[in-house]
Amino acid sequence: MNPFKYGTVVHGGDFFDRKEECSRIVETLSGGNNIVLYAPRRFGKTSLVFKVMEQLEKKNITCVYFDFMTVYSPEAFVRLYAKALSAKQTNLEKFVKTFASAVKNIRPTLGFNADGEAEFSVDFANTVVDETVVAELLDMPETLGSKNKKVVVFFDEFQEAVRLEHINFENLLRSKIQQQVNTNYLFLGSKTHILHELFDNKKRAFYHSASQISIGPLPEADTITYLQNKFTASGIAFDAETGRYLISAAEHIPHYVQLLASEVWQYLIDTKKPVTKKVVDCCVTQVLALKGDYYMELFDRQSQSRKQVLQALTVSGKNVFSAAYITTYRLTSVSTVQRAVKELVEEGIAEKLDGEYVLADPFFKAFVANMMRGIPV
Ligand SMILES: Nc1ncnc2c1ncn2[C@@H]1O[C@H](COP(=O)(O)OP(=O)(O)O)[C@@H](O)[C@H]1O
Ligand SMILES: [Mg+2]
Repeated sequence: MNPFKYGTVVHGGDFFDRKEECSRIVETLSGGNNIVLYAPRRFGKTSLVFKVMEQLEKKNITCVYFDFMTVYSPEAFVRLYAKALSAKQTNLEKFVKTFASAVKNIRPTLGFNADGEAEFSVDFANTVVDETVVAELLDMPETLGSKNKKVVVFFDEFQEAVRLEHINFENLLRSKIQQQVNTNYLFLGSKTHILHELFDNKKRAFYHSASQISIGPLPEADTITYLQNKFTASGIAFDAETGRYLISAAEHIPHYVQLLASEVWQYLIDTKKPVTKKVVDCCVTQVLALKGDYYMELFDRQSQSRKQVLQALTVSGKNVFSAAYITTYRLTSVSTVQRAVKELVEEGIAEKLDGEYVLADPFFKAFVANMMRGIPV
């Protein structure tokens, strides 16, 4: 079995490092503070948070994990958050009773899933899901906790909560959080520009309401050791120099490092030849070929000015709004570039990292760069 994992949360032996970040988060949350965790997509936020949950649970803290990605309406929020609250409950019957008296207009039900396990769900037939219902539900974690049983709620992809603007969600949650004494929150998400807007803007409800923590790429030396261990366990030699080369081809982003390593492993597992830079290059080409149609469609979909900006960003992402940048890359005007960059960031195609704009997917970057150089894509 391929020992490299990507595209899902990684646990156990697939997860390495992040020890300092993990203990800092655990300490801050157990100390009764809230956190906002920043990092672009695919850096390992969700995996880190799952590690944090394991440690908090060992300290007898109840953890509730909720992902806003699939929340498009207040109804979806209520249905999914109610389910998330029930997930770690050992006594579901008791939970149903607590729920019924806390959230008045919604009927909790207990059924069975396909495996015959008890499953909690809610039924709100004709009830309009309004602020009152959402407010009652937001009180649930506090009800589940007590002085000796703290609760931590993890709100993943929290920027998507702006979809609930019309029911005043931001203010509602903020006021609940302020009243709750047994419950703490960790907010995380990939669209860092929206999170910054939520937590750093004086006019917004969450202004300065949480300690800020950001995570960067995994340290290079540890990543090399991790890759080396996995390759040698399969009988494939892997030296540090090639390791640095592979990591840099994946732009140090944990997800793409594992993706590329996985391709390399697949490429060599039959012959067990050592990993070389040439093999890495070959696998990058393979990934590009595999994703070619998708990348072409993604590129085609962009407006002319976004295409030009994308091409410029493959060369440099520094001072992109300067006159020199506009001239060098033959762009139209500062305002056109500003709009194009803003849209690319909003769509998650580009990201701002340490003051520079970069393409979020290093393979898409390579694809666009190849196209510019006339290399067949
Ligand atoms: N600590 C880690 N150890 C090993 N691989 C990791 C680690 N963190 C992230 N990854 C890799 O990155 C991928 C994305 O991780 P994920 O936690 O989903 O990121 P995010 O939530 O920031 O988008 C994982 O599937 C895995 O391949
Ligand atoms: Mg995630």
